[in-house]
Amino acid sequence: MKMIAVSNYDEMSRRAAELVVAQVQKKATTLLGLATGGTPVGTYALMAEAQRRGEVTYAQCRSVNLDEYLGLAPENPASYRYFMQDKLFNHIDILPENTHLPNGTNQDAVAECARYDALVDSLAPIDLQILGMGHNGHIAFNEPDDHFVAGTHLVDLGAATIDANQRFFDRREDVPCQAYTMGMGPILQAEQVLLLVSGDEKAEILHQSLTGPITPQVPGSILQLHRNLTVIADAAALSKFSVGSF
Ligand code: GLP
Repeated sequence: MKMIAVSNYDEMSRRAAELVVAQVQKKATTLLGLATGGTPVGTYALMAEAQRRGEVTYAQCRSVNLDEYLGLAPENPASYRYFMQDKLFNHIDILPENTHLPNGTNQDAVAECARYDALVDSLAPIDLQILGMGHNGHIAFNEPDDHFVAGTHLVDLGAATIDANQRFFDRREDVPCQAYTMGMGPILQAEQVLLLVSGDEKAEILHQSLTGPITPQVPGSILQLHRNLTVIADAAALSKFSVGSF
């Protein structure tokens, strides 16, 4: 594991965007694994800025996203498809047909999970997977559980996750209680994982994930097994680590 300790969110975003841009410059057809949430928003803005400055083109890139809420259509501003369009895809030259998310409007979970797994398999391996981390240690929407799941599955979102994500909705009762999520398989098989963590409310769970036992109760702990994990975390998120840990 490589740890890049930075001072704040903006520096985290800058370092992350530099790594993404370098990856795309090296391999034009990069398969990007993309995440939602507040954490990668700054990175996405800087990825777009790098293209505007003429440093990079995403025209040949492909992308697969981690997850999508069940029941939310792409036009719904709270859907992850809408988020990705708004925060990244509308501002870069990636081709719309090369961007993929689970289809939240498909109520047939067996069919949708099989479709997304087949799609990800056909594109894999992910060259660079961007990850944030939930307050309970979830990655994508792999919630704390008694086992890890490899493939795409439909999850029941825990109360803590619904609380945390409520800020993207008008009312708490509008937050869907289920979502499709990629499983741990493609994440572990990614050539490189970039875990971004910012803020003191993530400090305890980041420490547990990286130094505690590998357990599905702390889903992010599985990243300890990844052969090419880079963590970019700010001082607040690293406050539970003793000086000189890395
Ligand atoms: C959501 C997403 C995760 C993300 C998490 C953290 O639940 N499904 O992929 O990592 O939120 O969000 P934030 O970055 O806003 O803390």
